[in-house]
Amino acid sequence: MDALIHPSILSADFANLAAELERVADADMVHVDVMDAHFVPNLTLGLPVVERLVAVSPRPLDVHLMVTDADRWAPQYAELGAASVTIHAEASQAPIRTARELRRLGVRAGLALRPATPVEPFLPLLAEIDMLLVMTVEPGFGGQSFLDSMLPKIRTARQAIREQDLDVWIQVDGGVSEETVARAAEAGANVMVAGSAVYGASDAGAEIARLRKLAGAHLH
Ligand code: DX5
Ligand code: ZN
Repeated sequence: MDALIHPSILSADFANLAAELERVADADMVHVDVMDAHFVPNLTLGLPVVERLVAVSPRPLDVHLMVTDADRWAPQYAELGAASVTIHAEASQAPIRTARELRRLGVRAGLALRPATPVEPFLPLLAEIDMLLVMTVEPGFGGQSFLDSMLPKIRTARQAIREQDLDVWIQVDGGVSEETVARAAEAGANVMVAGSAVYGASDAGAEIARLRKLAGAHLH
């Protein structure tokens, strides 16, 4: 299993998004944080902007929906061309139905857990999804510190994925850096979202390569 690096454009210059996407052309996918000022206390962008990002991005888009009523919105992001769409368990009334709808539309289906949401109730749903997003900060803002207290949740999920013989990605999002990425990988995460670490680097491509190498060395 290779480590995948998904830079988050939350830390990009929102006035120059096309150029900012080019800076991370070496990424595996680009992580797009959709926030509605309701599920989280921040507001970013929505359908019309993501549609334009799909059109100009050199890499596929991994859309992280931090919105209430996720079941209503998720399929619309699939239809406009995202490669992966992740809903929050806390914002979904019917995560299995929505995941099946996303897969029917030909995109990867992701399920995200806030730090205070336990993973155990969702272990029986793993076969329905392509990616579990374990938030390693409270969602809403970039530049927060990685929560090491989430490492056991990652380990529990990876063990269940192995026991069920599934090919489900585990993504970590929040505070991922050269200092923390090895611990996330060692616990079982294989998809690393990094906002401030990548966009704060003078050479974003070199930072992606460093994170990929560090994570890859600790995956097992
Ligand atoms: C936070 C977002 C993250 C954010 C991570 O709610 O979901 O994707 O961009 O930023 P860093 O990597 O700076 O913690
Ligand atoms: Zn995110």
